[in-house]
Amino acid sequence: MSLTGFLRARWYQLVRLWTIRKLRRQPSAMSLARSNWQRSLEDPTGFYFECFRHFHRELPVEIREHRAYFTRERRGFGEDAFHVMWQLLLQEFRPGNFLEIGVFRGQVISLVTLWSRRAGVPCEVWGISPFSGSGDSTSSYRRDLDYYRDTLQNFDHFGLPHPRLLRAGSTDREAVELIGSRSWDMIYIDGNHDYEVVQQDWDACSNSIKSGGIIVLDDAGLTTNFQPPVFATAGIEGPSRVAGEIDRARFREVLQVGHNRAFQKIG
Ligand SMILES: C[S@@+](CC[C@H](N)C(=O)[O-])C[C@H]1O[C@@H](n2cnc3c(N)ncnc32)[C@H](O)[C@@H]1O
Repeated sequence: MSLTGFLRARWYQLVRLWTIRKLRRQPSAMSLARSNWQRSLEDPTGFYFECFRHFHRELPVEIREHRAYFTRERRGFGEDAFHVMWQLLLQEFRPGNFLEIGVFRGQVISLVTLWSRRAGVPCEVWGISPFSGSGDSTSSYRRDLDYYRDTLQNFDHFGLPHPRLLRAGSTDREAVELIGSRSWDMIYIDGNHDYEVVQQDWDACSNSIKSGGIIVLDDAGLTTNFQPPVFATAGIEGPSRVAGEIDRARFREVLQVGHNRAFQKIG
């Protein structure tokens, strides 16, 4: 890492710690209840900070430790507030099946499996990923890791039943077949970030999500008025563009937490 990169990372870390200290002392500024999710679309920055505060003040230790484990040694991407988003979505919609496109080292699918165990709601958890460190025009990943084995080891760390994993790119034939093989309750798209691929992911998933089901599009906040703090990001051009093109007669946006946007299939 360059000296500038090191100093920037240190700065982000200090601002994050300072924000945690400040928000931990403050009472809740807004409710995260379902009836208030519209606020996340109108004031995404305020809602994000409330999720961040909620993470550090209210989330059960087991969930915070899960995030801490994936933050250590760069096992996962994302932001603390996203763990709160998943708790909100999972508790509200209680999916019986869940698919993640772009697994990396298993942070989100293990969080869903952990929720399933804690809530006592059986959930079939699937992941599609190359498990090779392959990236795209905006993201690169280390190559010296057996991602498939590592993902299963991360599940073992929490004593969780293994997920069903398909080693493929999301636009490969067997992946498209898997996506189309059932009616999904919840899907998370966080694989290749290039516009053409995200667009194909959205098309395949939007046809296979059940009516009333949820698709979460990661890195899709660039065209919203979310103003990220220095330790967060507003998203990437490809997913943000796809989010802007979603047919609002078929999908309604129900929740935004930072650059993650959740869409519900109508009818
Ligand atoms: C940003 S990471 C996912 C992070 C993960 N959701 C988390 O919370 O830690 C993107 C992942 O997608 C994978 N990927 C790249 N191209 C893909 C494709 N065409 N289909 C599925 N996954 C892909 C990458 O190898 C990487 O593991």
